[in-house]
Amino acid sequence: MIARALVALPEYADEVVQGLNSARKTLPCKLFYDDRGSALFEEITRLDEYYPTRTELEILRDRSREIAQAVGLPVSIVELGAGTATKTGTLLNAFACRQMRLKYFPVDISSAALGDAKKRIKMDCPAAVVKPVVADFAHGFGFLKNIPNRKLVLYLGSSIGNFDWNDATAMLRNVREQLSPGDGLLLGTDMVKPADILVPAYDDAQGITAEFNKNILMRLNREFGGDFDLSSFCHVAEWNPLRSRMEIYLESLRTQIVSLKALSLAIRFGAGERIHTENSYKYTLQMVEQMLCVSGSKLEKSWFDRRKWFGLHLARV
Ligand code: AVI
Repeated sequence: MIARALVALPEYADEVVQGLNSARKTLPCKLFYDDRGSALFEEITRLDEYYPTRTELEILRDRSREIAQAVGLPVSIVELGAGTATKTGTLLNAFACRQMRLKYFPVDISSAALGDAKKRIKMDCPAAVVKPVVADFAHGFGFLKNIPNRKLVLYLGSSIGNFDWNDATAMLRNVREQLSPGDGLLLGTDMVKPADILVPAYDDAQGITAEFNKNILMRLNREFGGDFDLSSFCHVAEWNPLRSRMEIYLESLRTQIVSLKALSLAIRFGAGERIHTENSYKYTLQMVEQMLCVSGSKLEKSWFDRRKWFGLHLARV
């Protein structure tokens, strides 16, 4: 535990200390998403090599009508981690053309992002009534109880893939516990595919993902008085077939000692030593089925793109 008497440190300070002090150094991937990191992630989603966003959009464009039919009406749509709601318009239109005054509840920790989401949906699906909800999932999903009517909860973008198995199933169970019989969950997952497609998606030629990864060090320098030299670390992306995940690291290019003044921390790195910054799990349909089953829901139907690279799965409570 860090003494916080003099300066108020961010609440993730303990996680940073523990992660950097452990034998296999780690940092939590949630630290990627400060303003610069979120902008870099937006850039990643437009890269040629980063297929997931484009592929999920393709499914939404081609299958939204079928999805709306399978879900049934009337329903309110709740989107977890909606951000600026760039993908949701097509799906909302498929529901709105069959249901008057469709209600859409985008949920996010960032009220600025939700403001943009509202403007975007006003343009992309003028018939929807948008009701933004600011919430931090670290405090649970109790806000779902206050949303009236039958619900379809969206969790898109394969964000679930950034959680380890136990955390992913715990999160889905927590969501499920706030839902009622007949409610649904539409879950986006990135599917297992050859390493020569996966690796470039997480190590692009322009180096945007490398910048995104190193941004975590910039953040530690800024928020904890660190002296990480960014040019002394390189970005590494590896496919781990045994664990069915992409693993992202920052690798020290030399022996060095880095200090984080605000945490009274001096960390030694050997040449080639790594900080594990992110996992991105890739699923088979069987894994998705099992993950939903363990968390208390039942997989009803899945939709894929033509190459089966990405899946949207409807689970029923
Ligand atoms: C947000 N998440 C689903 C992305 C992914 O593909 O795992 C984060 C990301 N990390 C590197 N590139 C993209």
